[in-house]
Amino acid sequence: MLRGRFHFKLPLDGESSCVLRQARVKDCDAIRALYDDIYGGAYPLELIRNPDVTRATIADANHLWMLLEADARAVGSVLFAFDPADFIGKVYGAVVRPELRGHDLMQLAIGACMKRLFAESKPLDILYATTRTVTPAPARLVTKLGFQNAGVFPNCHKVKTSETHGLDVYVRSRALENRLPHPKLVAEVAGLYEIARETFGLADEPTIEDVGPPNPGSASLRFKVLDDPALVARLYAERLADRQLRYCFFPFHEPHVLCQSADLAHEVFLHKNAADGYAAILGIKSDRADFSGLLDDVCEASGRLGLRYIEVLVSAFDPLKQREALHARFLPCAYFPAMKVTPGGQRMDYLVFSRSFERLDFTGIELEGTGRRYLQAFMKCWYAMLLAQAPDFEAQDKLF
Ligand SMILES: CC(C)(COP(=O)(O)OP(=O)(O)OC[C@H]1O[C@@H](n2cnc3c(N)ncnc32)[C@H](O)[C@@H]1OP(=O)(O)O)[C@@H](O)C(=O)NCCC(=O)NCCS
Repeated sequence: MLRGRFHFKLPLDGESSCVLRQARVKDCDAIRALYDDIYGGAYPLELIRNPDVTRATIADANHLWMLLEADARAVGSVLFAFDPADFIGKVYGAVVRPELRGHDLMQLAIGACMKRLFAESKPLDILYATTRTVTPAPARLVTKLGFQNAGVFPNCHKVKTSETHGLDVYVRSRALENRLPHPKLVAEVAGLYEIARETFGLADEPTIEDVGPPNPGSASLRFKVLDDPALVARLYAERLADRQLRYCFFPFHEPHVLCQSADLAHEVFLHKNAADGYAAILGIKSDRADFSGLLDDVCEASGRLGLRYIEVLVSAFDPLKQREALHARFLPCAYFPAMKVTPGGQRMDYLVFSRSFERLDFTGIELEGTGRRYLQAFMKCWYAMLLAQAPDFEAQDKLF
């Protein structure tokens, strides 16, 4: 996917210009200084916090790290990551020094790379971005490049405050043509699909499945937690190779933590961002029928680990799992069309569910257009969940 030379000259103003080139390992210090200046040393990802990860990412064959230079000084940066199994990519980490913002530099930089990456001969089908909402700039920028908003991640990352991020997706038309139509959804997530239908121009109606509450679960498990990223990564690779893991599709996330039952019969692999308490479920080895109870037990273990937010991906063709995720108080926040390649070669839609362990806070959020609609759909589910948990005020002592 990455063959070819990524080297461009971008106009800065009438007279001067900038160079956009692939970063080299020896640029590591300049890159980390750039992000430290812009984020005041609070960049939340290991990518910058840990110089070994910075260097490994620059050198990685499935990454393209682009550096903007003016007068031989690092003034901006953006990364692309690729998953060759699902022909999906992610663009992230965009930064431009404040004094050079508003010159369309980042838009030109990402646009120049996308032109190469989506050339007819290239296999890439999808590029997505998760955009901060502390200013409207990131979402507007990707919208101008043809991305569509596909959801929000409420309070997912913490920089100075808990930030909500948007999900923005660029899908090539051949990927949408190759998409499995008529997703099978529980009623609570149908609102998200309606937004996606409009924004991505999807013609097909969903099938709404009447799935009742899950059966009462088995006794809860108290997971012990293995917080040893190197060992966990090795175990994860072994479980994948032995085909023991279910729900193991979560591109661009590495496993760090393993939740294990005492008898080792149940295992759940988590991605964990220690800096801000973000987590995602990357794979489950368990024959337990009660998926909802399993998620609850994982949340209990995550809370002990100091995590504050957790995500899980659920197929848009698995209404039972959607119901179980809702039952475990995970709320639907994004609808990703055509996200994964199925064994049959078609592309399948996915839903993102998230659960926050903290009080939701949207102070200072700058969310426009479709993003606002997704947040409303999310809040509607959140409110319905609170009502469902609340005591019946009619039957008991009235508070109001
Ligand atoms: C986001 C960022 C990389 C944008 O870089 P940039 O080179 O200034 O962006 P561009 O000039 O290419 O902007 C493209 C579009 O974004 C929008 N935009 C940019 N800055 C904006 C701002 N401060 N407010 C509102 N919209 C803005 C505009 O619509 C602009 O198009 P226009 O010039 O035709 O109006 C830069 O603001 C930055 O480094 N921010 C801090 C780090 C960060 O939050 N990164 C995003 C991570 S998701």
